[in-house]
Order: sequence, then structure tokens, then C-alpha cells
Amino acid sequence: MTIFVDIGSLEDIPPQGARVVKTAQGCVAVFRTADDQVFALEDRCPHKGGPLSEGIVHGDRVTCPLHNWVFDMNSGQAQGSDEGMVRTYATRVRNGRILIDATLIRTSRAA
Ligand code: FES
Repeated sequence: MTIFVDIGSLEDIPPQGARVVKTAQGCVAVFRTADDQVFALEDRCPHKGGPLSEGIVHGDRVTCPLHNWVFDMNSGQAQGSDEGMVRTYATRVRNGRILIDATLIRTSRAA
């Protein structure tokens, strides 16, 4: 069973924005979509390491700020002809708070 920890308020992230959470497994980009879904992805593009947290959110996709690869935030899969995969992590939103998979957080704290 996945244990979730609270990493902050949904309101802390603007719609179609992101924030970075430092975790035991590296930086994780936590995205909020226009319709208040939340996704957590490794903050590192598999192409050349671009910071996905600075990318553009559109629907449930994010476009890398460096060379415009597009990732499906549900699966982490690159779209179109680009091949690559970014790691995704389980998230929940409860009572306006964002929860993410606690195994990420073990020895870390929110940035
Ligand atoms: S580093 Fe992300 S598309 Fe090139």
C-alpha cells in the first residue's frame, strides 16, 4: 500500500504551473493542471536533462522548455516521434492539500 505525505497546499501552485520538491530520489516537479489535477514527475527531461518544472503545461501534458519534447504526465511517456520516458510518482489531492508517495520523501523535505 502506498503511504502519502502532505507536501503543501494546492493553492501554492498556480494553475498550469509547477513547483519543485526535493526528495531522496532527486528533484520532483509537481504540476497543477488548469482543471486542478496534480501530477508528479522527475524534474529531468530524458532528452538532455531539461527542467520539466519550467515547461509549459497544456491539458495533462507538459512541454520541455529546452527542445519542446512533450510528455504525457499520466504515463511519463514522450509523445509523437520522440522516444523517452520520465519517471512519474503517485499523487492525491485531499481537502486542498497535495499528497505524494511517501517513499520519495524519506530523507528530504519540501523545497
Ligand atoms: S532536454 Fe527536454 S527536450 Fe531536450
